[in-house]
Amino acid sequence: MTTTQHPKPCLKWAGGKGQLLEQLEPFFPQELAQGSIQRYIEPFVGGGAVFLHIANTYNVSEFYIFDINPELILAYQTIQKNVEDLIEILDNLQQHYFSLEEEKRKQYFYQIRSDFNQKRHQINFESYNLDWLERTAQLIFLNRTCYNGLFRVNAKGEFNVPFGRYKNPRICDRDNLRLLAQLLQKTHIQQGDFTECAKFVNHQSLVYFDPPYRPISQTANFKSYSPNQFNDFEQLRLRDFFTYLDQKKAKLILSNSDPKNQDPTDDFFETAYAHYRIEKIQAARSINSKSSKRGKINELLILNYSLMPANRDG
Ligand SMILES: C[S@@+](CC[C@H](N)C(=O)[O-])C[C@H]1O[C@@H](n2cnc3c(N)ncnc32)[C@H](O)[C@@H]1O
Repeated sequence: MTTTQHPKPCLKWAGGKGQLLEQLEPFFPQELAQGSIQRYIEPFVGGGAVFLHIANTYNVSEFYIFDINPELILAYQTIQKNVEDLIEILDNLQQHYFSLEEEKRKQYFYQIRSDFNQKRHQINFESYNLDWLERTAQLIFLNRTCYNGLFRVNAKGEFNVPFGRYKNPRICDRDNLRLLAQLLQKTHIQQGDFTECAKFVNHQSLVYFDPPYRPISQTANFKSYSPNQFNDFEQLRLRDFFTYLDQKKAKLILSNSDPKNQDPTDDFFETAYAHYRIEKIQAARSINSKSSKRGKINELLILNYSLMPANRDG
């Protein structure tokens, strides 16, 4: 029996939506299943779990992905342009890593991490060149071997996650990288602010926004994607952009945290998105770094379209 293979995310990213796909699915517009969505656009793509789910499930012909993080976008563009050479470099890193004892693996991790940080200022992020191959291989290697498998940088923009001690991490997944490269051939990939996607949005587009979430409590604000914070001013700038794209008649869906988990009187999103549909879904997410405080919490989905009755009941 032959099964069609689909790409999975190649990087683990803070706020990844891999665990929420089932809950999101009923809220996609009916036009997606009907085949009348021509473009899928994701302005905060991160690890790309939703992008890949849509590409693997529906018949959409063009994809547009954006993120402000230059390292992430460089990695996607490298996979798009030269996946075979990337696989070779990553495979060498993996083989060397697996040949080492634990203590030496740890030393090797810190060696790669410091090389990655030192070379940051020499990289030309603007146009593809051979340095991108090593940089992407190092990013994937660090993401797979660091503690908790995340990408996090300090105020100076240096990757600062410690060693992770996984027994046999899958560093080089050739098949998956090749599948991803195939999909990226029909994907526009761009580094920049979320507003950069505007010129690609038309009435046959679905735009999914997954911005850095508004913190629901002081202690929940431990996620750091990049040195610049996504504060309430940014959340409202995003709302204004949502309203602007709504006028283009695109289908829009936006995820965010539900402040009512912590403070039932906090009406930030009800006020900001008063003209739109606000739905709640349940996420098994850690809202607190203490495991005792982990459990199901609500998240918001903000939509500019109506749902079919079957979806609403489900
Ligand atoms: C919640 S994560 C996205 C998670 C992603 N959907 C996934 O499933 O892995 C938010 C992303 O927004 C990006 N970001 C932060 N500020 C941004 C901005 N102003 N414009 C575009 N992207 C931004 C971050 O780099 C991060 O990758």
